[in-house]
Amino acid sequence: MTQKSFPITAEFIAAANTTAEQYAQDYERSVESPEATNAFWAERAELIDWMKKPTIISNVNYDLDDFRIKWYEDGELNISVNCLDRHLKTNPYKPAIIWEGDHPSLHKIISFKELHAEVCRLGNAMRKLGVKKGDRVTLYMPMIPEAMVGMLACTRIGAVHSVVFGGFSAESLGNRIIDSQSKIVITADEGLRGNKHNPLKVNVDRALDMEGTDSVEKVIVVHRTGNSIPMSGRRDVWYHSLIAGEQEQCEPEVMNSEDPLFLLYTSGSTGKPKGVLHTTGGYITYALSTFRDVFDIKDDDVYWCTADVGWVTGHTYSTYGPLANGTTTVVFEGVPEYPTWARIGHIIDKHKITVLYTAPTAIRSMMKEGDTFVRESDRSSLRLLGTVGEPINPEAWDWYYDVVGGGRCPIVDTWWQTETGGILLAPIPGTVALKPGAAMNPLYGIIPQVIDTDDTALEGPAEGNLVISNSWPGQMRTIYHDHERFLETYFTEYPGYYFTGDGVQRDEDGHYWITGRVDDVLNVSGHRLGTAEVESAVDAHPSTVEAAVVGMPHDIRGVGIAAFIILSIGEVASDQLKAELNRHVRTEIGPIANLDAIYVVEALPKTRSGKIMRRILRNIAAGQYVGLGDLSTLADSSVINKIIDVVKAER
Ligand code: WTA
Repeated sequence: MTQKSFPITAEFIAAANTTAEQYAQDYERSVESPEATNAFWAERAELIDWMKKPTIISNVNYDLDDFRIKWYEDGELNISVNCLDRHLKTNPYKPAIIWEGDHPSLHKIISFKELHAEVCRLGNAMRKLGVKKGDRVTLYMPMIPEAMVGMLACTRIGAVHSVVFGGFSAESLGNRIIDSQSKIVITADEGLRGNKHNPLKVNVDRALDMEGTDSVEKVIVVHRTGNSIPMSGRRDVWYHSLIAGEQEQCEPEVMNSEDPLFLLYTSGSTGKPKGVLHTTGGYITYALSTFRDVFDIKDDDVYWCTADVGWVTGHTYSTYGPLANGTTTVVFEGVPEYPTWARIGHIIDKHKITVLYTAPTAIRSMMKEGDTFVRESDRSSLRLLGTVGEPINPEAWDWYYDVVGGGRCPIVDTWWQTETGGILLAPIPGTVALKPGAAMNPLYGIIPQVIDTDDTALEGPAEGNLVISNSWPGQMRTIYHDHERFLETYFTEYPGYYFTGDGVQRDEDGHYWITGRVDDVLNVSGHRLGTAEVESAVDAHPSTVEAAVVGMPHDIRGVGIAAFIILSIGEVASDQLKAELNRHVRTEIGPIANLDAIYVVEALPKTRSGKIMRRILRNIAAGQYVGLGDLSTLADSSVINKIIDVVKAER
């Protein structure tokens, strides 16, 4: 925790939507009592166009015997109407999406009117394909406007979308299709990032060769690069021919507030990625409301969130939050280093971007390249910066603040999760001096607590696990098909609280500092991977018998992956074999699952009951060889020194 704090400039404060006093007052009022919290959320629900206004605000009980989370349960609405139709009355020609292509010569501006028309066409077309309310649709897309069109078209007709990150492998995609039993897959011929082609359609074909994917009736393919791809006559249809001739009007499905909106698969401590389920009314109210609060949104903002639509940030803060507010959202297809590391700055200047929201990993990789690239642009349009996804180290914070933001723009460090649907902790800009590395304050209606291992909520300055003691509209409702796992993961360890899986410190000013995951989830470049998932990919290789995977410090990605493996009899450790193992894991899961270190060991540290003691491996992988804590539960403590020898020899 650094002692430095950065006051907000007087100019920013003067124009900010709220003040320090106002925040303090509104926050207190919003958490005074459950009734006051409901009153706050009733007020925020006024910002939504309901088809039937809700009379019941919340119906929540974290008690496992009678568990429920419901918001606005008698309300009816349609999300695409809130993101599109209602802006047609006020500002139809305002840009909804500014799309910046992979190559700098390519961009497209799509107004709310045009986006509405396109969404309606696809909605009509999907209805003709037999997609009905509640059916699942998987999207496996590049960062092109059609990704958002696909999501919004699902909401138009009440289908539940499941977006799978385009960087995931065919295998990962297949598993998600099997779990969701999707009827339709929407994809593109290829993705294009940094002039590299990503064979999306070929991956879809391979995924659909997997057993259990028979639910898929049609694959809708967007023409992006035009390279030739296999199209199967009965199953595959081109997006452009499908929607050609469809009407620009499409009757919106009437959705109950608690009807499912989307599934998004994310990694947990154990087992396969789980389908996080969000519902309609609460999610959109939370997305709309937190977006305008945290980003101090004005009508003329041009807002750019660099997250891929395959992650929750791309859902809530590239798509739903901005569009529900009628804010212009920038969608970038490419990567920060193409054609050069100056690209981000050039995009900011080109589209006069006012708010930039990105991840610490992206900031660190730009910082590593030096200031000259960023200084090619003037970035004078920027007024606010944001970060998300991982703890930001003070050096990266300073650089983001001084160099990217020219020392003028506050940084909102936003803490949240796929499960929370939207931001829970952040310094609402203009209301508090910033501390690099701290997510600072709870948003309205949120009651965070620091809890220790004895289940006691701590007062004052404290360190422990982060839990939330109440509910909020954007909270996930269940794990698809696995409500038991949902209760077990989030509500069992600390009865009566939502357990986040993160560690936290609260300082003497009451500000929150996230310290990172306390479970077996790795946060690599701000992307979640489960150690169990990576281990089972390593285990699946014929040359290995067993593997233990842990996170280790990484300069750029925050967390890197270290694998301790035992080879099959007859196999010999070699660079070639390690490269092959890494390739294997990247193919099984996707390139984000890169093994940064592979240590071939004779045995793993296990307890007498056979459980791998990852804590010890984490320390060793971080270069800490002494003070490894209590080793008395180890079945054979002599393995530790042997492992340390292997690690030392490799470093
Ligand atoms: C981490 C991303 C520190 C945290 C929105 C959380 C952060 C996980 C921050 C969720 C932050 C997110 N500071 N850590 N500002 N934001 N995290 O589900 O460990 O992809 O539990 O959601 O990212 O990752 P997810």
